[in-house]
Amino acid sequence: MSLDLITLRRRLQKALGKKFTVGNVLGEGGFAAVFRVRDDTLGHDVAVKVLDLGLTPSPGLAERFVREARTSAGLEHPHIVPIYKVGGYKNEVLYIVMRCLDGPSLRQMLEQQHRLSLRDASRIARQVADALGHAHRNGIVHRDVKPDNILLDETGHVLVTDFGIAKAAQEASASQLTTEGMVVGTPHYMSPEQATGEQVDARSDIYSLGVVLYQMLAGVPPFDGESAQSVLMKQATATAEPIRHLRSEIPATLAAVVDRALAKDPAERFQTAEELSRALVEALPTAAHDTVGGRASLAAGAIRALAGLGVVTGVVLVMLTILSRPPRVSALAPLPDSVADVIRSLSALTPGDRALYVFSPHGPDDTTVLVVARRSIAVATPHGVRAYPRDDVQAQYGATMRAGLSFRMVLALPRARRDTVFYQLSFRDVYELARRLGKLLPNAGGGGRTGGSTRRTD
Ligand SMILES: Nc1ncnc2c1ncn2[C@@H]1O[C@H](COP(=O)(O)OP(=O)(O)O)[C@@H](O)[C@H]1O
Ligand SMILES: [Mg+2]
Repeated sequence: MSLDLITLRRRLQKALGKKFTVGNVLGEGGFAAVFRVRDDTLGHDVAVKVLDLGLTPSPGLAERFVREARTSAGLEHPHIVPIYKVGGYKNEVLYIVMRCLDGPSLRQMLEQQHRLSLRDASRIARQVADALGHAHRNGIVHRDVKPDNILLDETGHVLVTDFGIAKAAQEASASQLTTEGMVVGTPHYMSPEQATGEQVDARSDIYSLGVVLYQMLAGVPPFDGESAQSVLMKQATATAEPIRHLRSEIPATLAAVVDRALAKDPAERFQTAEELSRALVEALPTAAHDTVGGRASLAAGAIRALAGLGVVTGVVLVMLTILSRPPRVSALAPLPDSVADVIRSLSALTPGDRALYVFSPHGPDDTTVLVVARRSIAVATPHGVRAYPRDDVQAQYGATMRAGLSFRMVLALPRARRDTVFYQLSFRDVYELARRLGKLLPNAGGGGRTGGSTRRTD
């Protein structure tokens, strides 16, 4: 079966209406396609995953797909691709609107690089483990952890997508896909209990992540075969080639993490994704960092080199400052009423706290508002509010070269967590922010307290 992309695009455009422009196809799975879509109101791109209901004869299954998508839309985490909307149109299409990631998927990285550095592999696995831990705590098992569902943003930060959805979508179109004995989905990442059709729980995701980690390090997945059935058989019964036979530089501690994640018996694996995350950092402390690849540091290096040019740079930066537009909002306490009203409407502050500084840029990020208050720092978006104790947070900036020079602003949180607040700031925005935040936030790294709380506005 292959999707009829022309019909799907036409149906999606009809479903989304005039305020959205459906663009090129970002990717295609077995039962759905993902399109880049311009949100003309907000002026930025989103990714929309569409399931063709023409292939989905059972309304009950379609409902399940929507239900699963709505449940996972409630997951808010720095390493989970945010879902903005789940919708359907006249029994023709079901769609999920989500953040569009501009980096490669892990599958594309593996296709290009074959195997990754120990540093990148452990960083990716640790970020995926953190995302899974959050989902599991909220009662959601991913069920389809694989390199295609692990995406990078343009700064090399890892986000996991398709929580619970892929499985529901497979079932929604299953009668079209499964003839006797045919397996839906790729068997290479399935746990033994999935392979044998048993009940799965969070520990099944841990196994799948173990497979992904093995592949990132060794360049090949632990089990391969001529047919889906033979791979599934091996998942259930075979022992993987010890990973250090394939790459001797892997430390024994890291190899032990891989082995434990890949235990056939769920009771012998890490029992939680947090345990796996901790074990990765203990085996290789660099796993605690978020940035993968090094493109961001290249851009930062270019900026540093530029800074070395001294006077010339000064002139260029002043010009950049003058020529770029001022931020949409940059207000210090006492806040003007109009800004105070916005803060109230976003529920960005806990009762009793008081805003000291509010910032929102012009341009692609302008729906995000940063509020620094006496006790907390909050990032308010149309989809919810992420708030952290103010004393625990540090602001950091990095340069990217996407569509010209722009800057991102990241909050560094305790335990090496990061929250990218703005993706495309102008130099003037950075200048303004750095000047204000330098006075309001601590300069030293965050303390030992655990991360921020998450509140939703709706
Ligand atoms: N939010 C997103 N932003 C950018 N690209 C995406 C996004 N979600 C999915 N994609 C791309 O679309 C492809 C197809 O996705 P999907 O239909 O989920 O199938 P699969 O995960 O099996 O590849 C993915 O492999 C990925 O490259
Ligand atoms: Mg996917």
